[in-house]
Amino acid sequence: MTEPNRAPSIGLPINRVDGRLKVTGGARYAAEYPLPNMAHAVIVTSTIAKGHVKHVDTQAAESAPGVLAVLTTQNAERLPGVGGGQAAAMRVPTLLQDDEVHYNGQPIGVVVADTFEHAMAGAQMVTVQYAEEKPVLDINTAPKNPPDSVKPLGGARSSKQGDVDAGLAQAAVRIDHTYTTPIENHNPMEVHSTIAAWQGDSLTLYESTQGIFSVRGSVAKNFGMTPDQVKVVSYFTGGGFGSKGGPWSHETLAAMAARRVNRPVKLVLTRRQMFGPVGGRPHTIQRVTLGAGRDGMLTAIRHTSTSNTSTLENWVEPATSQTRMLYASPNIETEYDLVRLNVGSPTFMRAPGESSGTFALESAMDELAYELKMDPVALRLKNYADRDPESGKPWSSKSLRECYAMAADKFGWSKRSPEPRSMRDGRWLVGWGMATATYPARRQAAGTSARLMPDGVVDVRAGSQEIGCGTYTVMSQIAADALGVPVDRIRFELGSTEMPENPASTGSVTAASTGSAVNEALVALKAKIEQLAPGGLASNTVADIIARNGGQPLEVTINSRPGQEQQQYSMHSFGAVFTEVRVDPDLAVVRVPRIVTAHGVGRVLNEKTARSQIQGGVTWGIGMALLEETHIDPRSGRYLNADLAEYHVPVNADVGTIDVHFVEEHDPYVNPIGVKGAGEIGITGVAASIANAVFHATGKRIRDLPVRLERVMST
Ligand code: MOS
Repeated sequence: MTEPNRAPSIGLPINRVDGRLKVTGGARYAAEYPLPNMAHAVIVTSTIAKGHVKHVDTQAAESAPGVLAVLTTQNAERLPGVGGGQAAAMRVPTLLQDDEVHYNGQPIGVVVADTFEHAMAGAQMVTVQYAEEKPVLDINTAPKNPPDSVKPLGGARSSKQGDVDAGLAQAAVRIDHTYTTPIENHNPMEVHSTIAAWQGDSLTLYESTQGIFSVRGSVAKNFGMTPDQVKVVSYFTGGGFGSKGGPWSHETLAAMAARRVNRPVKLVLTRRQMFGPVGGRPHTIQRVTLGAGRDGMLTAIRHTSTSNTSTLENWVEPATSQTRMLYASPNIETEYDLVRLNVGSPTFMRAPGESSGTFALESAMDELAYELKMDPVALRLKNYADRDPESGKPWSSKSLRECYAMAADKFGWSKRSPEPRSMRDGRWLVGWGMATATYPARRQAAGTSARLMPDGVVDVRAGSQEIGCGTYTVMSQIAADALGVPVDRIRFELGSTEMPENPASTGSVTAASTGSAVNEALVALKAKIEQLAPGGLASNTVADIIARNGGQPLEVTINSRPGQEQQQYSMHSFGAVFTEVRVDPDLAVVRVPRIVTAHGVGRVLNEKTARSQIQGGVTWGIGMALLEETHIDPRSGRYLNADLAEYHVPVNADVGTIDVHFVEEHDPYVNPIGVKGAGEIGITGVAASIANAVFHATGKRIRDLPVRLERVMST
């Protein structure tokens, strides 16, 4: 069998290669591996927000039916790799190594039993005495962290170009407002879960994660092991959105429990335990000051953001990131402050920074447009940045003009009447608003191996993760095109630390990073085949090729990394989000019948999975705008709405039409496959676009998310 030249599969909206497994239940999640002799663990959590565990009474639990062990701060094994340099660590777990309580809901014990039900019952029998202290829970009154501890994702606390005060002094129009976003918690369908199984001194973890290698590194370090003593597998993850971007406490606790009872242990967080122990988006208080001439030219931009972290780590929501690069102005300043509260540590949450930050910046730009009586799109075009204003570097590519034009056209923006409360449909007030979307295009080093097998299938392996985005599918497409074979000849595998190392599936890096590696590996395999058998797969049979290789499968392993282009260009995706809302004039109910988007994300690998990414991001943006908010009791620090009945995310009835468009974009610089990633940009700009539409409908400016109806009524 020889291969004719194939039409490229990249870009086509092919179905997911794992679709059948997903819909038939064949795609196993971490907790679905039925290991023999498995025991079940349940985490016991603190019921105070600050203080110390004085005593844990485990007697009742230990004698309860089926209970095998109760791990507490008093009896847990001391882990050699925990403590010491922890302050510098990005992620500080709580692993029963000391008795300090940092937040309400913190893991302080683990009950292991023969069944999940017995473990749950046992966990409820554990009684804890605390030395309780008054928790710090109010971001407005808590002391600010020292400036040198404020490092947004490793970057600078502040940025300063030109002289903002001078720019404001010369401005004809000024906008100066404070916008807030609440604490939000990730709620993927699949809660965090681990199965830990020891084989002598080696450990295997079946883990629900976005980062198998980062879990491996952290768990190995905690136990004082080398990384090669720990294997982490994750073939399917049921959503993560940042909360599974790195290790927390439960992976190591599961391994501690497994070692204690000398059996494999399964540990699945409860939905309530998703609120606190595994991150969330912090509260932000953002002040945006804009100065502009009458013509709309921005003379100054200042954006400061105060967010909360926990008392364990210094995590900064990088909410001013987009303000440093989105609009051309000679005078731009940004700065962060951080406040420590007795809450769970915050972390990455879909488009960390840009999702919360674009709410503030793009709301302020809308306010400025009304002040100037200027069309909001025209204002943005007036201040279009043709180079990165912060670095001065050229963009690797930027199609934001085309995004505005395309989305405005598809939306029908030219029919908008600019006055607030000027559009109606029956009794409903109709509002049209827009905002800009943006997110960095990142790439990290990644490895891939590829093997031509005797049956003609090509085995491609990369230790990445499938978190629901379509990674199996797009990597199969990239591999197929690079080799020149149909997609069904590729068997793409991911999800094990025994495969070549790949970055965590965070920060929209996967398509660009793993994709570049897969492309490079298959190009190398093709060259190897060609060298061995001129004409390659087009004029030789697989049997022939393998025979010429001494009967052995042909294999290549490569490691692919970004180069000089990273220093030469500024790399970002951009987009535009146009929203129609309807607001009930008496009840202030806000509905979102339609959102139209256009994005430039480089090359679109699969039109169907890319569209799903944007639709998912927009849907979450609707939740961020109208529904999502974690309530924490100001006295006890307890997470009050820690379940899906009370923590509201959008359901189908909340989501109207989401009309997704992509601007064709050829980026020759960003990476060899021209891909920028589409995982996070979809949520950016959405909350502002909706809030701006609410203002247009009602004349009421909501600067605090979520846009709840009582806020619309009372403003
Ligand atoms: Mo994404 S919030 O970096 O998983």
